[in-house]
Amino acid sequence: MSCCHHYALAEGGDAVFSVDLSAITFGPGSLAEAGDHARNLGLRRVALFTDPRLAELEHVDIVRRALAEAGIDAVLYREVTVEPTDAAFRNAARFAAEGHFDGYVSVGGGSVIDTAKAANLYATYPAELAAYVNAPLGEGGAVPGPLKPHIACPTTCGTGAECTGIAIFDWVEKGVKTGIVSRRLRPTLALIDPTTTWTLPASVVAASGFDVLSHALESYTALPHTCRAKAERPSLRPMSQGANPWSDFGCEKALQLTGTYLERAVRDGNDREARDAMMWAATLAGIAFGNAGVHLPHGMAYAVAGGVREFRAPGYPQEEPMVPHGMSVIVNAPAVFRFTADACPDRHLDAARWLGADTRGAAPGDAGEIVARRLIELMRLCDIPNGVGGVGYHEGDLATLTAGTWAQQRLVKNAPKAVNEAHLSELFRNAMRYW
Ligand SMILES: [Fe+2]
Repeated sequence: MSCCHHYALAEGGDAVFSVDLSAITFGPGSLAEAGDHARNLGLRRVALFTDPRLAELEHVDIVRRALAEAGIDAVLYREVTVEPTDAAFRNAARFAAEGHFDGYVSVGGGSVIDTAKAANLYATYPAELAAYVNAPLGEGGAVPGPLKPHIACPTTCGTGAECTGIAIFDWVEKGVKTGIVSRRLRPTLALIDPTTTWTLPASVVAASGFDVLSHALESYTALPHTCRAKAERPSLRPMSQGANPWSDFGCEKALQLTGTYLERAVRDGNDREARDAMMWAATLAGIAFGNAGVHLPHGMAYAVAGGVREFRAPGYPQEEPMVPHGMSVIVNAPAVFRFTADACPDRHLDAARWLGADTRGAAPGDAGEIVARRLIELMRLCDIPNGVGGVGYHEGDLATLTAGTWAQQRLVKNAPKAVNEAHLSELFRNAMRYW
């Protein structure tokens, strides 16, 4: 099904869309407001989630002091791991259940925020891990009711985890990355302080910046909500409901900001204007994709990150091989958008123009190539590896990469056109190398 006439209602489609939001507080110095916000939410005793590296940094200290000054008892949990596993989620849930907290504060990247969401869920409604995990890998059970308040304070300008109802983890025995998806998981308040990005290494800003870019580009080009099969009941309408007019706003602005500021934010750590702008872009893209959903570049990224062999990225922990999330996403993107452009060429041209490409005189048939070339240009400017091959894969991996992506049906089905396994294999082949 191709849906170029955006928001024309397809047969069996959903004419209605929903918008779910975290409350947002944004601006330099806002971390110091954590105590007052927590008190205002009625909190007396909170679990403060972070990771061992961040626990030593100033940001966590600012939040701890703010909570203490507001008379709130905060117990630190610093055991969060990068790319959390099922065991990491279980450990965090046990800590949360034993602590009898009335709320949660998380300070960190997507891993920290997602771990706090899971801890809140399993401490509030105890169950086996599989109970709420996406079907068919998990049981896909509905979260029974509201969770405890959660104030999420992101320290990278990427994941958008502070604005979404998604918690991603690595299910080790099943060998896949999957997640829990529920609007109940969405943090109560996103407390976003762009000063946290001022000290990030260039490579981290690059990877997380491309995550932002792809959230916006995927949400904008996702299957329109009017073409998604209508849910049985309105309350079952998925958060990944497809492109919609609300998300379009955030995508447009996020792509414009990324096109203008990403390279500057990567190149010069002292360019605070650029880093602040990327944090705002991350917030806008997070809100957008939290209500629209991403598609193929993220679906393929699960396989790219999951099958890593020896790749290690500069600026990241070197103990274990790892492809940083944003990098595992963007290496797929040029091949994907060359493929999806014919489903909605106008949207691909809009996005290319917002990212800074010259689209004057472009025909609809040029859309895929124009957006792909601009993406490749930005990737090269920001020292991103050359495609899926650049992070250690080769043609012999096509079957494994395809299978790993095919398992992510929630994302595959949110693409603007029908996708089969042969398409995915071809996409990976085309994504191996770009220059
Ligand atoms: Fe992402």
